[in-house]
Amino acid sequence: MSNELQPIKVGLIGLGTVGGGTVSVLQRNAEIIARRAGRRIEITAATARDLKKTRPFSTAGIELVENPNELVARPDIDIVVELIGGVDLAFDLVVAALESGKHVVTANKALIALRGNELFDIAQRHGRIVAFEAAVAGGIPVIKTTREALAGNQVQWLAGIINGTCNYILSAMYNDGVEFADVLKEAQDLGYAEADPSFDIDGIDAAHKLTILASIAFGIPLQFERTYVEGITGITALDIDYATKLGYRIKHLGIAKQREDGIELRVHPSLVPHNQLLANVEQAMNAVMIQGDAVGPTLYYGAGAGAEPTASAVVADIVDVTRALTVDPESHVPHLAFQAGKLADLPILAMDEVETAYYLRLSARDKPGVLADVTRILGGLGISIEAINQQEPDTQNDWVSVVILTHQVKEKAMNQAIEEMQALDDILEPVVKIRMETLS
Ligand code: HSE
Repeated sequence: MSNELQPIKVGLIGLGTVGGGTVSVLQRNAEIIARRAGRRIEITAATARDLKKTRPFSTAGIELVENPNELVARPDIDIVVELIGGVDLAFDLVVAALESGKHVVTANKALIALRGNELFDIAQRHGRIVAFEAAVAGGIPVIKTTREALAGNQVQWLAGIINGTCNYILSAMYNDGVEFADVLKEAQDLGYAEADPSFDIDGIDAAHKLTILASIAFGIPLQFERTYVEGITGITALDIDYATKLGYRIKHLGIAKQREDGIELRVHPSLVPHNQLLANVEQAMNAVMIQGDAVGPTLYYGAGAGAEPTASAVVADIVDVTRALTVDPESHVPHLAFQAGKLADLPILAMDEVETAYYLRLSARDKPGVLADVTRILGGLGISIEAINQQEPDTQNDWVSVVILTHQVKEKAMNQAIEEMQALDDILEPVVKIRMETLS
């Protein structure tokens, strides 16, 4: 074809797991991708820390360079793909790429959650796109779906398992009855863990992803600093066992909910009814449930990490940008789904104001009147009990575990109740509190 368009030239920053996956997918599926994009997509140059390293994929035809600043300034590159992670250096490189007229594709959730507002402003001013499908839930096309396919809906809430490492650990604790510490190393060996594994187990990675999803769902600026974050380090095999007996699984969820008075934005472990689809997402898989007023509940499931699943999202973004190259910048799909200047100033609610149901576990002295004291405290604060269950007493001790499920109540009232229960002489250990979501 004589009038065939010139290939799109990609510069890849980072040849690690996702970079390698991107090279492999673009090479293996070159023909079909060209038929979809309308032109061939070539990786012209790539940066890597160690240029001599042997890699499990072919870099034939790719110029390997050491300095990413050089790559972002090259006039022969159309799209820069940033896959190095971290915030500050990645930010500088993306800004340099945008300022020199390139579009950017990134898988960097921390970068978007923390500095996306600035980046989108800069991109807007230069008529350029920053695409970031791979930043949330790896290969699951949840950004594009929320931004485009659900554009007719008011999103009411979304809830997701968006950290594979946490889900792997909780799955193993459930299946094998092992403690958190016993399975952590196993999860890290899978290769999904963040460079700093506390990002996974303390919930920070999930909070980055939730921040991004919530902005797109509700049309609010990215506000990572206002997202409530709790990880899974406090979850014990005992609580998983009690939750199971009551018909629940414990999952690490990111939840964003629109209320009349603002938005709940929170990441923490939750009890989920065992027959809910999200409760059955196992191992390192991810899933996001989104409830729209028109569509009702929807669910998106798939691999949230890994070389080719994440590359699937990166390559889709490259194709999207390629298709948009001839489009007037004003007509680009807006970064956060709503037109720039049309984001809403909705308050993110403080955790005290969040309303949810609770699982409580108390270690109580096994003697008359203790439960009466506990129920008096709950009743006094307007907290309604859904179920109460005294476990078998420990034969060597004079105490028992008491598990209480409550109806929905504000977190502030629940914390007050826990403080009062804790003050009772007959409550022996710190009260365990895990939130519950029915997802209905
Ligand atoms: N550390 C992340 C996870 C990788 O475990 O899900 C994908 O973002």
